[in-house]
Amino acid sequence: MFKSIKSILKEGTIGQEITLKGWVRTFRSNRFIAINDGSTIENIQAVVNFENFNEIFLKRITTGAAIEVTGSIVESQGKGQAVEILVKEMQILGDSDPEIYPIQPKKHSLEFLREHAHLRIRTNTFGAVMRVRSTLAYAIHKYFQDNGFFYVNTPIITGSDAEGAGEMFRVTTLDAKNPPLTQEGNIDYKKDFFGKETNLTVSGQLEGETFAMALGKIYTFGPTFRAENSNTSRHLAEFWMIEPEVAFLDLVGNMDLAEDFIKYVLKYTLETCREDIEFLEKRLQEEEKTKPQNERSEFSLIEKLEFVIHNNFKRVSYTEAIDILKNSKPNRNKKFSYLIDEWGADLQSEHERYLVEKHFKSPVILYDYPAKIKAFYMRLNEDGKTVRAMDILFPGIGEIVGGSQREERYDVLVEKIKAMGIDQKELWWYLDLRKFGTAVHSGFGLGFERLVLFTTGMTNIRDVIPYPRTPQNAEF
Ligand code: 4AD
Ligand code: MG
Repeated sequence: MFKSIKSILKEGTIGQEITLKGWVRTFRSNRFIAINDGSTIENIQAVVNFENFNEIFLKRITTGAAIEVTGSIVESQGKGQAVEILVKEMQILGDSDPEIYPIQPKKHSLEFLREHAHLRIRTNTFGAVMRVRSTLAYAIHKYFQDNGFFYVNTPIITGSDAEGAGEMFRVTTLDAKNPPLTQEGNIDYKKDFFGKETNLTVSGQLEGETFAMALGKIYTFGPTFRAENSNTSRHLAEFWMIEPEVAFLDLVGNMDLAEDFIKYVLKYTLETCREDIEFLEKRLQEEEKTKPQNERSEFSLIEKLEFVIHNNFKRVSYTEAIDILKNSKPNRNKKFSYLIDEWGADLQSEHERYLVEKHFKSPVILYDYPAKIKAFYMRLNEDGKTVRAMDILFPGIGEIVGGSQREERYDVLVEKIKAMGIDQKELWWYLDLRKFGTAVHSGFGLGFERLVLFTTGMTNIRDVIPYPRTPQNAEF
């Protein structure tokens, strides 16, 4: 078996003969080939004695070509690497025409690379981002599995709108040009594939709750879909969400869980992907240099990660936050696009970022929001106007987690569903949980791409998911 470059660099011994396969990054002086196989950010240098190969063959060693190299590991004469491969045999597995290969050994803009998302993974930046993404996913499973949570796969196609926000993609097999109609002239969904209206899920929470009320501690980790027309660097129409749900857990326990969980996955990933994150830290420093001084971050990427890992998140009630915002400079000077004048206002990302980046300079957990601006399933407080909701806000990201203690009282929940104009019939099974063995329970949703964004220091969410789906864009 051929060896990965990662294992050669880690375990290879001088004098050992090995075979490796990878893609050419650069070929200098007809002698030095930098090869990368994706296993690590590091290239391995293969040294060619060009007298042993004919010229036509050497011309085919171009950026992007796939090659196989056999040779012995030797101590490197040059700087930048401890070992290199002295090539004995070499084979071109797949040519890459340098005239048309889009990914050249130079700096490409992130916008250009987005248009070549099928090839951008071969760059240092995207290789690092995608390895970090994979490790984060593993750390998430590991945290929950090590702590007695069961992994649940909730349906992707659903009949309910879990968030009640009406931002769903419809799933149908009806003929768009000529749909069957009812006598009243409406589309007859009885004739549709499922015999009813269905859509792609916006959240696995409601089904997740049914599992928590049987298995105790569960989590989901799957794709979710939102047809919100937000063309921002924080929103995707298709994103992955992690949703733990725990029976007999209240809001404070839920905050403790979320904080412990986030710290664990960041710590695990920082330790496991140190080289990739160091590379991304340098990339970010370069990017920061292009910004005016006052917009540059005081901290490096690793300092930011360390800060989150080692400090308590600030826990602040919505009411306290509104007071802070009301009296804040940008509010008094009318610098916010949405001015905060009274209790009950929904917080915009400018407010969230002010709290996190300017006021507290720390991750913040906001809790006890006004019932009016939150989803129907959240536990009503004794004051009758706030709910046991919590959002976790991160520097540079804004909201990374949204969660709550769930309304466990049947009558209160039914009232809420009616008041919000939600179809109670669709939720009969959800209401059953409140009829049979109801109990306090809580959970939250973490947006996976927002976590990857934070961990990698990238600035656009389109650059941390393999193939982003956003308004007017579903290429690849
Ligand atoms: O706050 P949200 O809407 O909460 C829920 O869906 C709950 N059902 C979660 C739960 O309690 N089980 O979404 C949760 C998180 C947000 O905090 C954000 O990180 C992410 O999902 N998110 C998005 N990420 C990328 N693109 C979008 N359009 C997102 N919408 C939400
Ligand atoms: Mg939310």
